[in-house]
Amino acid sequence: MADPELHNHQSILISPNIPEQVPGLVEKVSSLGKTVDLNNAKERSALLEAVRSLMYALETPREAMSRQCWATNTCLAAIESGIELAEETGADALLVGRLMKHLCAMGTIIETGPNEYRRTGFAQTMAIKRFADSYPCTANCFNQAILAIPAYLKRIQYRNPSNPKDCPFQAGNRTYQLFFEYLSSNPDIARQFNNHMGVYHQGRPSWMDFYDVRSLYTGVGPDDVLIVDMGGNIGHDLSEFKRKWSDAPGRLILQDLPEVIEHAKESNLPSYIEPMAHNFFTEQPVKGTRAYFMHSVLHDWRDDVCHDILRKLAPAMKRGYSKLLINENVISETEASWEITSVDMILMALLAAQERTATQWHELLESAGYKITKIWTDTKGAESLIECELA
Ligand SMILES: C[S@@+](CC[C@H](N)C(=O)[O-])C[C@H]1O[C@@H](n2cnc3c(N)ncnc32)[C@H](O)[C@@H]1O
Repeated sequence: MADPELHNHQSILISPNIPEQVPGLVEKVSSLGKTVDLNNAKERSALLEAVRSLMYALETPREAMSRQCWATNTCLAAIESGIELAEETGADALLVGRLMKHLCAMGTIIETGPNEYRRTGFAQTMAIKRFADSYPCTANCFNQAILAIPAYLKRIQYRNPSNPKDCPFQAGNRTYQLFFEYLSSNPDIARQFNNHMGVYHQGRPSWMDFYDVRSLYTGVGPDDVLIVDMGGNIGHDLSEFKRKWSDAPGRLILQDLPEVIEHAKESNLPSYIEPMAHNFFTEQPVKGTRAYFMHSVLHDWRDDVCHDILRKLAPAMKRGYSKLLINENVISETEASWEITSVDMILMALLAAQERTATQWHELLESAGYKITKIWTDTKGAESLIECELA
C-alpha cells in the first residue's frame, strides 16, 4: 500500500530544494563565470560560493540526502585508502579499480580511459604528507566525536555542551581524556592533527595580509621580542609572518606544549623562530613583548577557562606597549559561512567549545580586564584579528 505521507510529499521529493532561487543563481554563476580571474582569490571564491548555492538550490531532497549520507564519508574513506595505497605495492587490482572509480566520481582524479587516470591539483596535493594527514586525523579522531554528537546531546537533554571532559569526544573515542591529553598520549594522531593545523588555512587571507603589521614595529629593537605565538603549534604562523614581513624587527618566539614543541623542532623549524615549551595555564614567562598572539586557541575553551589563560598573560603585558592579538573566527550574526559553522560543530564535538560572535568576544575580553581596540576582518568566512590592550 502506498505510504500516504510519502504520496503527499511526492512533488517536494522530486523537486529542487529551493526552486525560486535557481534562475537567479544560474544568472549569477554565468555572469561571475564570464569575468572571473582564477588567480584572484576573492573572485574565484565568489564564483565557488555561487556554484555551491546553486547546487543546494537545484538538487532534490533525495540528491541532497545521497550526497550527505553516501558521498561524504565514502569519499573520505577512499581518499585515505588511496593515500595509504600509494605507499603499498601488490594491492589487489580489483580493489584499486573500485577506489579509483569512486575517486573519479567525486572529482578528485580524472578518468582518461579504462583503468587510466590523471591527477588533479587535489591529488597532487594529497601526495604531500602534511596535507594528506588531514584525512586520518579526521577519520580516526574527529569523526568519532562528531558522529557522537546526537546521542550526547540527547543524553544532556539538549543543553549547550560545556564540559570538555565529558563531551562527544570522550563518548566517540571511548576515553576519559581531554582532547589535548588524548593527543599527548597518541603521538601519531597528534602529528596528523599538527599537520592539519599547519595546512588548513593555506591560501586563505591571513591576519598579516589585512592588519597594519608595520604599526607593531614601533619601539622594537633587534633584541626585543616582537611576537610570542601562544599555542602556536609547529610554527606555521610565525614562518608565514617572516616570509611575508622579512624586514620585521625583533625576535619571534613559539610556545606550545612540550611534545608539540618537539614535533616543531623535528619539522625543520626555521632558525629565526625560538621554540619554547610553555603551558598557557601558567604565568607567561616572556615579559613586555610587543605582541602576544593566539590563533584558534581561545575558541577551544569556554569563557571561565579563557579567563584563566588571559589572567596568566596579563602580568607580562606592558601597559601602553604590549598588544594581545587574537586571530579567530568572529561568527556572523547572520549568513555565517559554512567553514566557520563547521568548525563550530567540530569544537562542540572535540572540546564542548564554540566560535564566538563580536558581542561574545567583547564580553569575554572586557570581563577579563582587556579592551578591544579594533576587530580587523577581511572577507566573510576569513578569520579576523581582534586587537586588544590591557583595559
Ligand atoms: C587549535 S590548535 C591551534 C594551533 C595554531 N595556533 C593554529 O592556529 O594553527 C590549539 C593549540 O593549542 C595548544 N595547546 C593546548 N593546550 C595548551 C596549553 N595548556 N598550553 C599551551 N598550548 C596548548 C595545542 O597543542 C594546539 O597547538
